[in-house]
Amino acid sequence: MSDLFSSLTIRGTTLPNRVVVSPLCMYSAIDGMPQPFHFAHLSSFARGGAGLVFTEATAIVPQGRITPQCLGIWNDQQAAAIKPIVDFIKSMGMVAGIQLAHAGRKASTAAPFHGAKPLLSDHPDSWQVVGPSALPVAEGFPMPHELSVSEINELVSAFVDAAKRSIDCGFEVIELHGAHGYLMHSFLSPISNQRTDEYGGDLTQRMRFPLEVTRAVRAAIGDDIPLFFRISAIDGLQGGWTLDDSVVLSQQLADAGIDVVDCSSGGIQGAPRFRINDDGSPLKQSSAREPGFQVPYAQRIKDETSLKSMAVGVIIDPHQAESIIKNNEADLVALGREIMYDPFWPLHAAQTLNADPDFDLWPPQYKWAVDRREQIRKQR
Ligand SMILES: Cc1cc2nc3c(=O)[nH]c(=O)nc-3n(C[C@H](O)[C@H](O)[C@H](O)COP(=O)(O)O)c2cc1C
Repeated sequence: MSDLFSSLTIRGTTLPNRVVVSPLCMYSAIDGMPQPFHFAHLSSFARGGAGLVFTEATAIVPQGRITPQCLGIWNDQQAAAIKPIVDFIKSMGMVAGIQLAHAGRKASTAAPFHGAKPLLSDHPDSWQVVGPSALPVAEGFPMPHELSVSEINELVSAFVDAAKRSIDCGFEVIELHGAHGYLMHSFLSPISNQRTDEYGGDLTQRMRFPLEVTRAVRAAIGDDIPLFFRISAIDGLQGGWTLDDSVVLSQQLADAGIDVVDCSSGGIQGAPRFRINDDGSPLKQSSAREPGFQVPYAQRIKDETSLKSMAVGVIIDPHQAESIIKNNEADLVALGREIMYDPFWPLHAAQTLNADPDFDLWPPQYKWAVDRREQIRKQR
């Protein structure tokens, strides 16, 4: 009996298994609108058997996009355009989730395959980036506009509007993006938040904006929809956000209406990189990228809070994924690059784990033929 292929019910949504497609920006939208590529991309994971398929970071306002080609849900036209993708994922028996995001001071950049550089004010596609404080991400990044309290309140409302649109077009899980140096993470981390008002200062004040967003979104979507929150469990920088901070935040997120904490890390000063441990000791790049390197974060959140947790980061092997769930290190595993490499990873993993000997998890359109293929293979 496979634990990876056991179902999980959270509030009113049942995930058929524990394999999740991590949010993956494709930098292929036009004016925030999904394109045929998005349909092909996301639908392949549903056909491939992932129980929960997340959209890429989907911006709640135009200025919240990472690149001009990022997906958005700040208007009804965008929501209507994404609905067929949601419908298809459901038709495969899988669950569609949306990651709602604002890129904050890391917005207005070029796509990775166009160099990933910040688009500065002389670039025709650039826009003014915003953050908790007027502190750029790093050298070469634009100076953010420091958000006023009324602008912060407007962004809380924009998250709420985006969440309502997401529910209206059929998403059954919502994730709030609070990681990777984007807007909510930049409020949490003392590296990027040096405000002197009620949204900055000690941990309680730095948590205020993400918690306000969470409470407001939970109130707007009702009790049935699972709400996830992606954290960067550590900044990995001296004086930055720590794992202990993540435990405190998670406890408060639970009270605010979060069900699952999705445990990533890094990104406050550019690409997610890990330079030091919480105790200040050096952390080698190579060890940081080992399989399952972020699983201990998910385990700590699961062990020390009432929340469920999701592990992500270099989860490659079906046995590795199975043991994370079996050993109670996390409730869900999210895959990024591995499932891009093999969108049918879940169905293939079920074969490896002997969880689906008769190909029952495959879409019926494929099952009968794949079954025959197997007979032929065995006869050879
Ligand atoms: C192409 C690509 C796009 C990504 N886009 C997002 C995103 O939109 N939101 C997010 O939270 N993380 C994003 N990530 C991070 C992934 O969700 C995931 O956390 C990371 O790739 C580690 O998992 P992996 O080792 O299985 O790839 C992206 C990663 C990749 C490779």
